[in-house]
Amino acid sequence: MRILLLTHSFNGLTQRLFAELAADGHQLSVEFDIANAVAEEAVALFRPDVVVAPFLKRAVPESIWSRHLVLIVHPGIVGDRGPSALDWAIQRGAREWGVTVLQAEAEMDAGPVWATERFALREATKASLYRDEVTGAALAAVRAALARVPAWRAGAWAPTPLAEWLARAAPGTTGALHRSMTQRDRAIDWERDATAVVLARIRAADGFPGVADTLFEVPCHLFDAHAATAGELAEAVAATGRVAAPGAVLARRDGALLRVTRDGALWIGHVKRGDGEHRFKLPATLAFAAEAAGLPVLDAPLMHAGAEHDERPHGPDRRPPLARAADDLGWSELAYRESADGAVGFLAFDFYNGAMSTAQCERLVAAIDFARTRPTRVLVLEGGRDFWSNGIHLNTIEAAASPADESWGNINAIDDVCLALITLTDRLTVAALRGNAGAGGCFLALAADLVWARESVVLNPHYKNMGNLFGSEYWTYLLPRRVGADAGRRVMANRLPLRAREAEAVGLVDAAFGADRAGFDAELAQRAAVLATDPELAARIAEKARRRAEDEAAKPLAAYRAEELAAMRRNFYGFDPSYHVARYHFVLKSPHSWTPRHLARHRELGWRVPEPAGVGQ
Ligand code: COA
Repeated sequence: MRILLLTHSFNGLTQRLFAELAADGHQLSVEFDIANAVAEEAVALFRPDVVVAPFLKRAVPESIWSRHLVLIVHPGIVGDRGPSALDWAIQRGAREWGVTVLQAEAEMDAGPVWATERFALREATKASLYRDEVTGAALAAVRAALARVPAWRAGAWAPTPLAEWLARAAPGTTGALHRSMTQRDRAIDWERDATAVVLARIRAADGFPGVADTLFEVPCHLFDAHAATAGELAEAVAATGRVAAPGAVLARRDGALLRVTRDGALWIGHVKRGDGEHRFKLPATLAFAAEAAGLPVLDAPLMHAGAEHDERPHGPDRRPPLARAADDLGWSELAYRESADGAVGFLAFDFYNGAMSTAQCERLVAAIDFARTRPTRVLVLEGGRDFWSNGIHLNTIEAAASPADESWGNINAIDDVCLALITLTDRLTVAALRGNAGAGGCFLALAADLVWARESVVLNPHYKNMGNLFGSEYWTYLLPRRVGADAGRRVMANRLPLRAREAEAVGLVDAAFGADRAGFDAELAQRAAVLATDPELAARIAEKARRRAEDEAAKPLAAYRAEELAAMRRNFYGFDPSYHVARYHFVLKSPHSWTPRHLARHRELGWRVPEPAGVGQ
């Protein structure tokens, strides 16, 4: 079928539908929902069999739905209506949720039901659920709906009118119309709300719009909250000598602030200031740098499970944590653990949105250095839960006094992470992509010996979309080494998302497996154990070291880095401002004013609707 994706933006869900439906054999094109006339023009040019609307912020114009089949993806169970579907479900503490595909009609989200899928509602942020469960359920529901189109056209099947579905459904299994959630609904009362309530409120608003609140008497929006442990709170109270009054900010860790609640405390990782200082999300300690500077640093042990004490080297910003029980480790971006037999190390770096700032890269290098001291044979780099990595941190760069200098510092810092991995020649390394990876984050994964990805992962292995960045992360060494020169050139020229299976076919990924989170984690542990006990392992490690030495003799890593950074220097400091302009619009989330040509295929010069098979041949 010819399918037009009419969408507000090419977000993760839309990328996944685009890549998966194309792999199913459909012909896809994309139009951003900018104006009715533009959408009408796209439909006229592409003449789609179906318009699928995966992510819209307004109703589809009648001029389109009255003449074409338009399927709307609604992130809610049947009967749920309104623009804050997930927000209400999370804030209410629903156990189960779903996605419904409806046919567009005059009343929003009230058309007949084509398909629906349900899933268990994890305790997670709205964005995390959207990227994982909602996206997976949406794909299944859209596939089910598309499979029904031929029968519908033939008059052999009809979607169920919403009222009929609701009348027939078992009690408690359907939703209702909910108004848009306001900041009043989201508001936190620090004196009265328990930690669980505060967490649910912030999660329901994360990534957008955040919960409006104040910090240090400055209005701001809160994001990225994690429960703190009793031990952490006690340590903060001891360090400050202050009373744990609800709402008080007592300590900091990495980018986060420790804030007291009625019955405990939580970490707040990101905030958006509302006083005009920065109009975008930043690590909390950066957004409130002056205020945070006076707070004690509460370090977290890097080593989890069975760790007796923190063996992490202490940098200038680090103090040894006070004694804390091993089961009271709390939240931190970096976490290292080992398999029961000690053969496999797992290093997670769960950076918010997969963005890696200079400071985060430095901390990651220190963690890799620590992992290097452990007697493991395999090191698994787990990245984050939602994103493995999305490369350098465009928000902290945008906030810097000199974005060019900060870009330079950040790219060097992420290159140092790559270098630490490439030169880890006494063991095998595995990049385990539990979540998506983009731009420099994809190439960072190639610094590992093996790349394993969850089946549902979508990769964006290209830099071009960020103002034609040349890119670094040693990609000029890593990419051709892995896939060959020709395939490497094709990867770099591409601007489209790649499914894990396609990445496997190209050679960017060695294995794609695991339908869901638990399945991936289980198979990951099993595969890593097999790798660590492989009788050939010692020979493989020796061969790795030999090849590294040979490659270094042929062309030193420093030469690759210098060449890449020479090009990046032009991107950052040269006369062409494309990167700075693209970054500004990305960070500030400027509305789209056109659909890029590589997505809007119907706008390619000379594009014609293909003749049906057998016609004109
Ligand atoms: N720096 C800072 N923030 C980033 C980021 C980065 N490198 N990559 C993603 N984000 C943020 C987005 O701003 C968004 O923020 P939000 O929580 O306020 O909504 C969030 O992460 C999710 O990103 P989004 O673009 O909505 O996800 P997606 O799945 O639709 O798209 C990418 C994924 C990777 C294609 C897209 O995020 C992207 O192009 N990122 C930039 C990659 C890049 O150019 N890195 C620098 C060069 S190495």
